[in-house]
Amino acid sequence: MTNTQDKKLWGGRFAQATDGLVELFNASVGFDQRLAEQDIRGSLAHVAMLGQVGILSAEEVAQIGEGLNAVLADIRAGNFEWRLDREDVHMNVEAALRDRIGPVAGKLHTARSRNDQVAVDFRLFTKEAALDLADKTRALRVVMLAEAEKYLSDEVILPGYTHLQVAQPILLSHWFMAYVAMLERDEGRFRDAAERMDESPLGSSALAGTPWPIDRHATAAALGFARPTANSLDGVGSRDFALEFLSACAILSAHLSRLSEELILYSTFEFGFITLPDSHTTGSSIMPQKKNPDVSELARGKAGRVFGNLMGLLTVVKGTPLAYNKDLQEDKEGVFDSYDTLSIVLRLYAEMMPRTVWHADVTGAAAARGYSTATDVADFLARQGVPFREAHEVVGGLVGLASRSGRQLWDLSDEELRAAHPLLNAGVAQALTVTESVRGRASFGGTAPDRVREAIRNARQGLERP
Ligand code: ARG
Repeated sequence: MTNTQDKKLWGGRFAQATDGLVELFNASVGFDQRLAEQDIRGSLAHVAMLGQVGILSAEEVAQIGEGLNAVLADIRAGNFEWRLDREDVHMNVEAALRDRIGPVAGKLHTARSRNDQVAVDFRLFTKEAALDLADKTRALRVVMLAEAEKYLSDEVILPGYTHLQVAQPILLSHWFMAYVAMLERDEGRFRDAAERMDESPLGSSALAGTPWPIDRHATAAALGFARPTANSLDGVGSRDFALEFLSACAILSAHLSRLSEELILYSTFEFGFITLPDSHTTGSSIMPQKKNPDVSELARGKAGRVFGNLMGLLTVVKGTPLAYNKDLQEDKEGVFDSYDTLSIVLRLYAEMMPRTVWHADVTGAAAARGYSTATDVADFLARQGVPFREAHEVVGGLVGLASRSGRQLWDLSDEELRAAHPLLNAGVAQALTVTESVRGRASFGGTAPDRVREAIRNARQGLERP
């Protein structure tokens, strides 16, 4: 394996071929061939512009353009030999162009460097990935919203937790709407990132710009960017667009991991709140009774690599002097990986959630246990003028009494209630039911059915906006 011949064409000062192991270490073609479409789009825009400003003749532009399209057709058809000795996607494409059309291929690289070439290719990819994940996040949001609607009319109740201790009863729909809210922000983060990275670095050249009379606005527009980047060092040396994408991925992953954790718990025998669909669970090779929540466990586990991809690139970037350094070649695999991982997790959840069965009898009964309406009893007293802190104390005593004798609050006798506080009369019975508890929490953003209905309506309207 030698690249002496390519070196004669590209690296005038080298007499000898690169060491084999260095070549292997240096090469990125194994993964950056994924940027082939973006690379050729970038080259087509560049060469068209070189023609427009008179740097290349119309004939040269036509020859190079046809050649690039033929190379692209070969790549798409799988008729392309990716060569390690040609290092990366950019040199593979350019060398294939030269093999096809001869020395005129060498004019493509006029007024351009691989530094701005890779920067523009990778921005094109990352922008498309961000918009695609925004769409997929929205699709899951639509699914979760439909689930919220599905359980609203029956007022299906779920225990609400803090510290994973039963806290207060909530509507299952309210729980779904919490994820709708998170997913809305996740989608927004992808769209914001896509907007901020919507600048073309092409024409920054190696680092300082170029003496050629290029038109950066024309190439930016041809590639669908809002504008060219304003500073050439920044254009080739910055990767915060990728960091922002990876950070939006990491936050979304954290949300999906929390959802996963809840579903894993809720699907256990001990909770018994949900039955996950057969299509999205697996069996055990030895224990016939098992139904494992693999999709959720993997979604939770894969958050680790998605976080790692962000941390990895932050660490790569932090020590590099301006502008381009080869370290930056390490920017791509994490972006590809986070993109692929989340594409599949989002799709799986969009399929799995509507097929998951919620056992309303179990969730409702669980919501009534654990003295979940104790706060409502305290509020009942406070409404009659007892300072809330004092009411809290009184009800705390009642919970202690009930739990010592293995009873619920509604099992306590009138005498016991009155002994705790004279204002605790028969009217308190109503405050003790989970349905009333939920209906009472009608503050803005609360779990009362009317509030949740309102939240669902607002979320629906939000979806009508682009
Ligand atoms: N494969 C390289 C990368 O991904 C392309 C840019 C190379 N530029 C250079 N000056 N060596 O970063």
